[in-house]
Formats: sequence, C-alpha cells, structure tokens
Amino acid sequence: MISPLKIGDLVIDPPILQAPMAGFTNAAFRQIVRDFGGAGLLATEMVNARGFVWMDENEAEHPDRLWGVAEEPRPLAVQIWDNDPATMAKVGKRLVEEYQVSIVDINFGCPVRQVTQKAHSGSYLLRDPRRMFDIISQLVEACSPTPVTAKIRLGCTRDNVNCNEVAKVVEEAGAAALTVHGRTAQDMFRGNADWETISEIKSRLKSIPLIGNGDLDSAEKVVAAFEKYNVDGVMIARACLGRPWLFAQAAAALRGEPIPAEPTMSEQREVMLKHYRLVVSRFGEEKGTVLMRKYACCYAQGKPGARHFRSGVARVATTEEFYQIVDEHFPIEAATN
Ligand SMILES: Cc1cc2nc3c(=O)[nH]c(=O)nc-3n(C[C@H](O)[C@H](O)[C@H](O)COP(=O)(O)O)c2cc1C
Repeated sequence: MISPLKIGDLVIDPPILQAPMAGFTNAAFRQIVRDFGGAGLLATEMVNARGFVWMDENEAEHPDRLWGVAEEPRPLAVQIWDNDPATMAKVGKRLVEEYQVSIVDINFGCPVRQVTQKAHSGSYLLRDPRRMFDIISQLVEACSPTPVTAKIRLGCTRDNVNCNEVAKVVEEAGAAALTVHGRTAQDMFRGNADWETISEIKSRLKSIPLIGNGDLDSAEKVVAAFEKYNVDGVMIARACLGRPWLFAQAAAALRGEPIPAEPTMSEQREVMLKHYRLVVSRFGEEKGTVLMRKYACCYAQGKPGARHFRSGVARVATTEEFYQIVDEHFPIEAATN
C-alpha cells in the first residue's frame, strides 16, 4: 500500500501525476484522463509567463493554454516558465487569485532551443541555481498559501549532473515538491531515465516530497518504481497520450487490485471521438480537426495498421473525413452475448 502524496496542504491520492506536455495536455485531454480516473493530479501544458503578461497588457486576452483552467475540477497544477522572478511572481499571483489553481509548477526541465538558448529558461536555468532560488522564492511569496512546485531534469549535460545541489536549492527556496525527469537536457529523450540518480535525491531533501518521472509505460512499472526507488510519487507523460486509462490501471495495481484490461477497440474509438468533440467544441471544425491529427496518432500507436492510419489522418480536414478514417481503423465490434 502506497501512501498518498502531500504537496503543502493538498493530498494527492493516488500519488500518480499526469505530466505537463506542451501541445497535448490541454483541457480536452485532461477531461479524458479525468473520465478514467487514477491520476491524483493533472497539469496543464507549460505557459510562458512573459507572454501571459504581454497578452494581458496588449490584447486583454489570456493564453490558449489556460483553456478550461478556471472551471475544471481540482486539483489542477498550472505550469509556467520564464527566467524573470518578478514576471513569474506576477503571473503566479494571478493564477492563484483569478484562476484559483491548486498548484503553480515551474518548468526547469524543458530542453527545447527556443526555451533554453533563446529565452534562457527551462533546463537552461539548472546551470544557475541562484536564479532558480530567486524565481522560486518570489513565486512562493506571491502565491502563498498555494503551493509552488518545481520540475527539473538531472542537469544540463551529462558532465554536469547537479540535481542534488539543485534539489536543496529548490527546497530552501520554499517549493512544496520536486519532480525529476531522470535525464539531462542534453539527453533530450535518448537512453533510459536514470531512476537510481532520481532516488538518491531523496536523501538531500529534508521534508518535501520527491516525484520520479521517466519511461513509466505500464501499471507494473509504476508499482516497481515505488518498490525499488525512494520516491513519494510518480509522473507519467508520453505513455498516457494514447492510453489515458493507464492511470486507472496503475492506481488499481498500487492498491493491489487486478489491473483493468485495456479498453476494447470500440471503447477506444469512443474515447477518441469524445476527445475529438471536445477539441472541436473549442477550436471549431477546421482547426480542431487539424489539431486532433496528432492526438489520434497517439491512440493508434502500437496497433496494427498504425502507419496507414497515421498517413491517412495526416490529411483529414473535416469531421466527416475524421470519422471515416476512425471507422476504418477502430471498427465498432459486434456485441458478444
Ligand atoms: C510532447 C511533449 C511535450 C512536453 N511538454 C512539457 C511541458 O510543457 N512541461 C514539462 O515540464 N515537461 C514537458 N515534457 C516532458 C514530460 O513532462 C516528461 O518529463 C518526459 O516526457 C519524461 O516522461 P515520460 O518518459 O513518461 O514521457 C514534454 C514531453 C513531451 C513528449
């Protein structure tokens, strides 16, 4: 039996978190994850704090990535990124006061050039723990009593794995939890996540929980992560994109119950079509159908005919075309009596 996770006063039960994923974990996806259950905490995609402030001052609009955030069920974490403590604090305060988010999470892990080299943010900041301290401490003050959390990688490069030092800074600055993706920024997604190194971080933390992340793609691996490594929670990213039911499977396994079977093709079809309807309700048929192409490819991944599905779905532009290709690859199964 695994204990629930405590982040500040929040109880995250089960201690299985849905990772923030830019371009994917919008309100439609989060709704689908919530339908299945099993994720103790959901998170938005990363929101650029500077962009939020700029939009607010110039267009009186808020980022698309905050779609759904004001209304949907809690707990919900919103992830933000930038390298300017005052900007981060300003946005954090608004997220807490206007949106009443449960957690403000900081992205210190993104390895993408646009964020690191161009904006000196995301994983770039791992080389500057003093700046991290300033960002976290100012955000904590601005958001109090709402918890602020940090998500990091092991370091910028394999020659400079400094997660132990960074972890101490994160805690001293007042963060309420630390999530670690077990790769360096240089690794991008290559190789395996290094869970031994994640696990070692635990001894550097005095009281905040440690959440491990990387390569968890089955209920069994989630159970093994808790058994083998010193983590208080786990976070799942890529594997849940096409299998949003993975959280429910992992949660059952953690409770020692039988792992629910994968949904049938008909059931998966219904999930994908609901996902489609949610996306279209927000973005309209044209943009929504184009956006759905990449989500649909995730659902097809690993299934027979996935390549054919991918090339077909890459061309769909209308609801009719979308349903047609789904019909071909995710047939409605005859009911068995
Ligand atoms: C498409 C994609 C988008 C991502 N976007 C974010 C993001 O916005 N914020 C973040 O902290 N991590 C982001 N990540 C990293 C994941 O949250 C996670 O740390 C990483 O994928 C490792 O976990 P996994 O092996 O379970 O996929 C992203 C990953 C992917 C694949």
